Amino acid sequence: MSAERIADVRLERVAVEETFGLRQRVLRPSLTVGEVETPGDRNADTAHVIVRLLGGEVVGTGTVIRQESPWGEAGWRLRWMAVDVDHRRRGVGAHLLAALIEYAGARGGGILWCNARLLAVPFYERAGFVVRGQPWDDREAGSTVAMRREASHSTGQARIVAREQLGFRS
Ligand SMILES: CC(C)(COP(=O)(O)OP(=O)(O)OC[C@H]1O[C@@H](n2cnc3c(N)ncnc32)[C@H](O)[C@@H]1OP(=O)(O)O)[C@@H](O)C(=O)NCCC(=O)NCCS
Repeated sequence: MSAERIADVRLERVAVEETFGLRQRVLRPSLTVGEVETPGDRNADTAHVIVRLLGGEVVGTGTVIRQESPWGEAGWRLRWMAVDVDHRRRGVGAHLLAALIEYAGARGGGILWCNARLLAVPFYERAGFVVRGQPWDDREAGSTVAMRREASHSTGQARIVAREQLGFRS
């Protein structure tokens, strides 16, 4: 059974530094907070989004970077999706993903792709991603597989997102 859904969250587009804490804690506990910046993080059209509860606590983060897929398609790479362990299965990741898909779709669309941990595959499948190719063992992330979907249309789940609030209007 799913945990209680979070009805009211605030999605904010933020500077990359605001994502480092959750990135490190959820995805790279063996690194320091200063080591979780990656290429493309500071590109002008990269979007970093956080999910904030009404009380102020930041419980989720994700990033999209304009980057061709490994198969040569123009589009966007989804990276660093992380939801605090105490707030999983409450819809936080789905809100986040919908906002990032909408952002990429509004900026030219194309293919949205990611290297997904095997444990996260059902989460991405739920949002319309499909596996491409065979899994491999990533040194840092463990068993991983590439996934993709079109970025050109919304999942319909981002309706709570005020684009002005996210700074998605150019
Ligand atoms: C993957 C992750 C971001 C999902 O975030 P989340 O907030 O828990 O996801 P949601 O609650 O929005 O889930 C949306 C849907 O995805 C699917 N889903 C999510 N987690 C799942 C899981 N562990 N097993 C099966 N399905 C899952 C379900 O269909 C879920 O809908 P439901 O709860 O109504 O059944 C989160 O589990 C996480 O941070 N994991 C650790 C880090 C990680 O692996 N990040 C991804 C790196 S590639």
